Amino acid sequence: MTSDDLAALREALLDAGFTVDGVAEALGVQASAALARGERVPARRAATKAGPLGALIRCFVLGDDVDPGELPRGEYGDLLEGGRATVDLRPYAEADGEPWFVVSDRTDGGTVKRADHVLGVGGASTMLAHATVRPEGARSLDIGTGCGVQALHLSRHSTSVVATDLNPRCLDLARLTFALSGITEVDLREGDLFAPVTGEQFDVVVANPPFVIGGQSVVGSRAFTYRDSGLVGDELSRRVIDGAAEHLAKGGTATVLANWLHVRGEDWQQRVADWLAPTGCDAIALQREVRDPSEYVGTWLRDVGRDLSEDEYAAWLDRLSALEAEAIGFGLVVLRRTGAAVPRVVVEDAPEPALPPLAPYLAARLDALDLLRGEVDLGSLRPVLAPALLDVLAVQGDLGWAEVARTLRLAGAGIATEVELDEAGAALLAGCNGEHSLDQLADVLASLGVERQAVLASATELLLRGVLRRTR
Ligand SMILES: C[S@@+](CC[C@H](N)C(=O)[O-])C[C@H]1O[C@@H](n2cnc3c(N)ncnc32)[C@H](O)[C@@H]1O
Repeated sequence: MTSDDLAALREALLDAGFTVDGVAEALGVQASAALARGERVPARRAATKAGPLGALIRCFVLGDDVDPGELPRGEYGDLLEGGRATVDLRPYAEADGEPWFVVSDRTDGGTVKRADHVLGVGGASTMLAHATVRPEGARSLDIGTGCGVQALHLSRHSTSVVATDLNPRCLDLARLTFALSGITEVDLREGDLFAPVTGEQFDVVVANPPFVIGGQSVVGSRAFTYRDSGLVGDELSRRVIDGAAEHLAKGGTATVLANWLHVRGEDWQQRVADWLAPTGCDAIALQREVRDPSEYVGTWLRDVGRDLSEDEYAAWLDRLSALEAEAIGFGLVVLRRTGAAVPRVVVEDAPEPALPPLAPYLAARLDALDLLRGEVDLGSLRPVLAPALLDVLAVQGDLGWAEVARTLRLAGAGIATEVELDEAGAALLAGCNGEHSLDQLADVLASLGVERQAVLASATELLLRGVLRRTR
């Protein structure tokens, strides 16, 4: 299809109301919720009554055969064979942005059939998009672009976007994604990991790479390029972190999803720290989930719609056992090249829900690592508190309610962190509105008998945890 055909098709899709909101309205709340659970019947029933928009939904979202005459007029080219969609095509959107479309491979009944299957937008994709720190005017790189979803987001704030993939089918479908989304400026390159960008540097690097451990050469099955790297153990994740750091310009930030092994007798945090330290970047690795080997194998067999048959399951468990894997961690890693002589590395268990917007939280933590590296006049800082709620537990005392515990919950801040505070800590945070310096707040707290050193120590800890944020 020519770019003119695709531009015309974009208009036809939009005219028919094939947008995120249009589809939600046509399906209604219950059918949309059922579809999100992988149940298609309610959506099919609703779409049948929704005219040409409903035909688009049945054809391209549900994967049903339709009479092409029911579809809005347009040149569908090889997106259709008879009345059957050759791909999954659905609207996608960023709040207040231009409407986008994402093209990926169909997953009929949840089964992945092709080894070169092009993955659609999933939970990991959206988590990475929410976590990406996005400076305006960035030169950006998306490694393993797949259907192109990360590159779509990068196009909003970047002067240039390079998107790579090893799988040529991904590049074909990503090209359709960009053309149908009205985006022309993505430079698509084929190749292994960072080979297509040798010697180049970027302000933003993102990667949701094929990090699955031990899945290759599943008995009687094939490896899937979207998840199986062909490398042993968690080597792919280590290489992606290393490559992302190598291609970061000074001040640049990389955001990468990774899996790592918990090897018997080894400290997992040390393993990840050993990957991060040689990058020369400040780095924060958050472990979002841990699965034992059987949970892990079950998850990834179900992911491609395979039955949990004895042979495949057992062979995968054997490979994990050969790696001495006690568990596997799912993590999010951010790196920033500050140019500092001694980079700082944090590796944490962070099982709390990660909510949008995650990026300001991560940016604040990276800023704090840099700020608190050396000699700094902490007292002159005027920090602000991240969006938070304070829960106070009180018992009846002689003079009314006596507070016995204070829990600060970061809410709408990106991550659901809880911090226990003493009275002075709560009073300090109440005053952190960006107007008062820590010196001024320490003077006030002195009247409660709190020492200046204690205030500054507490402020340091809260800055490093992303609870307090520096004002510019
Ligand atoms: C999990 S998918 C991520 C797709 C998309 N970026 C997202 O966020 O949803 C991983 C992608 O990496 C690609 N890939 C696999 N091995 C690769 C390699 N060695 N070099 C570059 N890309 C690779 C796959 O083809 C696939 O598109």
